[in-house]
Amino acid sequence: MQLQHSITALRQTLTGRGRVAFVPTMGNLHDGHLTLMRTARQLADTVVASIFVNRLQFGPGEDFERYPRTLEADREKLHAAGVDVLFAPTEKDLYPETQDFFVEPSCLQNLLEGEHRPGHFRGVATVVLKLFNCVQPQLALFGKKDYQQLMLIRAMTRQLNLPIEIIGVDTVRAADGLALSSRNGYLSPTERAEAPQLAQTLQTLKQRLRAEGFTQRAALEQEASATLDARGWQTDYITVRRQSDLQPPEADTEALVILAAARLGSTRLIDNLEV
Ligand code: PAF
Repeated sequence: MQLQHSITALRQTLTGRGRVAFVPTMGNLHDGHLTLMRTARQLADTVVASIFVNRLQFGPGEDFERYPRTLEADREKLHAAGVDVLFAPTEKDLYPETQDFFVEPSCLQNLLEGEHRPGHFRGVATVVLKLFNCVQPQLALFGKKDYQQLMLIRAMTRQLNLPIEIIGVDTVRAADGLALSSRNGYLSPTERAEAPQLAQTLQTLKQRLRAEGFTQRAALEQEASATLDARGWQTDYITVRRQSDLQPPEADTEALVILAAARLGSTRLIDNLEV
């Protein structure tokens, strides 16, 4: 596996490499990321991963400084997963001058994660477009755990006419149901034992929606949120939305997804479940 830091060297490396699949990450890789890499391996001639902790998508008081940087361990995992090229730019490589131009995802950035993390999706969309321009892949893969992020990147790719196929890959979970996330590493042993309750609450809400009916949706959402809060969580939202645009649904014939974000101690976890 080749490691490139500069955009020029990356482009030289990728010349004449056939169909390129790209998996952008912020590093501290777990099996969720490696599943993306292995899926990419089956779909393309060349697999490129990137590792870049993007300051632009972190708000004030968020975990940019303490976000785990584990390049050496990540390199070994990527090599074992069959990745051909790792692009790991420094901030100077990717933002050599003050960034004055941004991708503004107007509708999605004020909803759910966007509402709770102002500026987050503008930072994500901007860096993903920059990374797409550096790598120029034919395919790019993202995890469904970041459901709203995946929707946003699909919309950006469509609306800006980028010639890239976006592939969403199912969330990978620990045996107890907790969705894998680099932020799980922040949890204390007691919090780690409690953390699967988030996925469990989504499952319960899904079952109750089926049993009690769509008209009970608002009450069931509130109960789910209260249940988590009573166990010591601080729930930002747990809500049933349309898969198509993440707006509140009007009929139970629409494809739905339940999305949740909640804080356990100082760690904010997100998860979702398609209905
Ligand atoms: O999902 C992530 O790890 C990040 O948001 C991404 C897509 C790599 C952009 O920094």
